[in-house]
Amino acid sequence: MGLSLKGLSKTYFNPQNNQSMEVLQTLDLEVETGSFVSLIGPSGCGKSTICNLVAGIEVPDTGDILLNGEAIQGTLGNVGYMPQKDLLLPWRTLLENVLLGCEILHKDKRQAHIEAKEWLNQFGLSPFSEHYPHQLSGGMRQRGALLRTILFGKKTLLLDEPFGALDALTRQEMQRWLLSIWNRTRHTVLLITHDVDEAILLSDKVVVLSQRPARLIHEFNIPFSHPRDPDELLLSSVALDIKRQLLYLLIH
Ligand SMILES: Nc1ncnc2c1ncn2[C@@H]1O[C@H](COP(=O)(O)OP(=O)(O)OP(=O)(O)O)[C@@H](O)[C@H]1O
Ligand SMILES: [Mg+2]
Repeated sequence: MGLSLKGLSKTYFNPQNNQSMEVLQTLDLEVETGSFVSLIGPSGCGKSTICNLVAGIEVPDTGDILLNGEAIQGTLGNVGYMPQKDLLLPWRTLLENVLLGCEILHKDKRQAHIEAKEWLNQFGLSPFSEHYPHQLSGGMRQRGALLRTILFGKKTLLLDEPFGALDALTRQEMQRWLLSIWNRTRHTVLLITHDVDEAILLSDKVVVLSQRPARLIHEFNIPFSHPRDPDELLLSSVALDIKRQLLYLLIH
């Protein structure tokens, strides 16, 4: 059970130059319920396309996307999705932004407010709930966008480079923080990243993709139980060995 991609293919056609571009070629991928899987691969290989397909924004040419055994391709609203360029709406406060999903789903307003305030507290964002996005730091905005995704209320999350735009130190903080949040919620997560340490630290499985059209090159099982100690884990010989292999695959 969980999320299964079976034989997914996707080609985009560009009417301007009459050319088609094959982005995915019979891709298979399994994300077991409650597990954390990272996808890592060259820029432009098709990672965001995979997320768009799972989220139902795009439709595959061939193949199936199963969520707990049920085909979901082409249908919206099955998973929480934090797209690569996630922007909080500038005219809404942080609280109003994180309540967006609840509004779309027509959830009870008062209950949604109570829930959102509890989560803002857990995310360390309570003092900023009435701030507008331009009054927040980059890390806070990303936490807000992630909270909005979680409050959409789905057990499965797609996170497309959630920390890609942050400086190295903030990114490290955010990874550790996401790890502790995930320990509590145990969502089923598909994370896209370019950061090898991030993938190893957070994941149960790291999947390496080829250049476009994206094919699965290798899957690494990350053999550490949860909860994890980030410093101990990343400096362990097992993690360093996986990192070496991952970097080799990405560079060659
Ligand atoms: N809607 C679309 N129409 C046409 N081409 C598209 C569309 N979406 C993506 N592409 C093309 O598909 C290819 C893969 O794009 P995608 O965004 O999936 O890559 P990515 O692996 O997420 O890259 P990055 O690591 O830079 O985010 C790119 O060449 C892109 O131009
Ligand atoms: Mg992308």
